[in-house]
Amino acid sequence: MDENSMISAAWDAEYKSGRYSNEPPVPFIADIFKAAVSYRIINGHGLYVGCGNGRNYLPLARQGLNLLGLDVSAVALQHLAKRAPEFRERLVHGDLNSLPSDKTFDLIIGIQVFQHGDRVTAHESLRKAQQKLNPGGLFCLRVNAVGTDLWPDHELIEDHPDGGFTIRYLSGPKSGLLIHFFSAEELSALFSDHFEQVLPLRLEQTKRTPPAPGQWSQWEAIWRKKAV
Ligand SMILES: C[S@@+](CC[C@H](N)C(=O)[O-])C[C@H]1O[C@@H](n2cnc3c(N)ncnc32)[C@H](O)[C@@H]1O
Repeated sequence: MDENSMISAAWDAEYKSGRYSNEPPVPFIADIFKAAVSYRIINGHGLYVGCGNGRNYLPLARQGLNLLGLDVSAVALQHLAKRAPEFRERLVHGDLNSLPSDKTFDLIIGIQVFQHGDRVTAHESLRKAQQKLNPGGLFCLRVNAVGTDLWPDHELIEDHPDGGFTIRYLSGPKSGLLIHFFSAEELSALFSDHFEQVLPLRLEQTKRTPPAPGQWSQWEAIWRKKAV
């Protein structure tokens, strides 16, 4: 099985076993909505990459954001469409390559999705999404951060002088998957050229529920694409 098939199979299995179905949205969605209002893109076309089964997608869509929901997990989208049939037509099964190459957006959201794959893959996906954002549009990102207490079993695949690294999980729900952890320096460099900060990079830490150990860390930020 190739890496992409492994990702969709792993997430299909997670959603079948109820992942996120009773979880509240992440607080970051309030920042996303506020920024969309402030920058007057509330009526624009938005894209939520890796929308999952809707814990964050649905509250944003119900507040009026016009969001295409994209996900490689067919199970996630089936569950989301069942929960909210009114948004069924806005859901697309696949990744960024599944969208028409000339399709662009005023708002792009990625919550815990751009960390899939190794460093090169993660950077390529972020760059591809950046290219799909219109000038003046907002890029809202929440992604794995270095400093996470790594758990469960894993092996280090690569690390970089800027602090970013990739592991492969050896057990647990993501067993076999490559997952990247970004450093602040790495993310800032990826958004240095054509973007200005709207919500500066901040670190959010979540304590795992015992007996799972330690905490996991996520970067959150919102950038605006400069006009060319
Ligand atoms: C950690 S879950 C987060 C789901 C959702 N953003 C949330 O916060 O509830 C990651 C999601 O990204 C999806 N995914 C992984 N790689 C993807 C890709 N390249 N394109 C689209 N979706 C992807 C997975 O199927 C999964 O639903």
